[in-house]
Amino acid sequence: MIKIAPSVLSADFSCLGKEIRNVEKAGAGLIHVDVMDGCFVPNITIGPVVVKDIKPHTRLPLDVHLMIQKPERYIEDFIKAGSDMITVHIEAINYNNYALCVKRLKAKGVKVGISLKPGTSVSRIKPFLDKADLVLVMSVEPGFGGQKFMPAAIPKIRQLRSVFMGDISVDGGINEENAKLVVNAGANILVAGSYIFKSKNYKEAIRKLKCVK
Ligand code: DX5
Ligand code: ZN
Repeated sequence: MIKIAPSVLSADFSCLGKEIRNVEKAGAGLIHVDVMDGCFVPNITIGPVVVKDIKPHTRLPLDVHLMIQKPERYIEDFIKAGSDMITVHIEAINYNNYALCVKRLKAKGVKVGISLKPGTSVSRIKPFLDKADLVLVMSVEPGFGGQKFMPAAIPKIRQLRSVFMGDISVDGGINEENAKLVVNAGANILVAGSYIFKSKNYKEAIRKLKCVK
């Protein structure tokens, strides 16, 4: 089944709780939370305090995407804040620290995600796959919402799907046109920020992304 994960980066932060309740009502399957440190990416967003505060507003799993250097420093904080799945970037962590994060996450029943930027090959991520529940394929350079989808993500998803049975999520520039292509390539979670939050009707936007086959 295809799950839609609205990225709250494009939501109205002055009423984030309401925005999250609205996308839940509109048929979202996960809430995607983008954490940026101004170092791994050239933008700064939010930290564990906000994750903790949005938790009571939804029954949906919080899918926390850490675009931060050395994410192992903050894993514990994001677990405590109520994250249901935490994705770290392969470009920001070494294998030993990744294994450490996995241990902590699994101990608390939090799902493990590993993400790769557009310039990172699938072969680089292969050693990390056996410990991962989810792979998040970036289809834009991480850092900002509202960018254009990079079609090079499609063969990458296909390649990943041939070796990985878990969830494959795609993040960046997703809309009703490219959704079909990424799903056919093997993705089952679609992260979409501006396509949903900049639309007039969240329900309609989510429905269109779901009905892509
Ligand atoms: C980008 C973030 C994305 C972003 C997606 O670094 O990881 O989750 O919010 O936004 P859209 O769908 O607008 O590209
Ligand atoms: Zn993201």
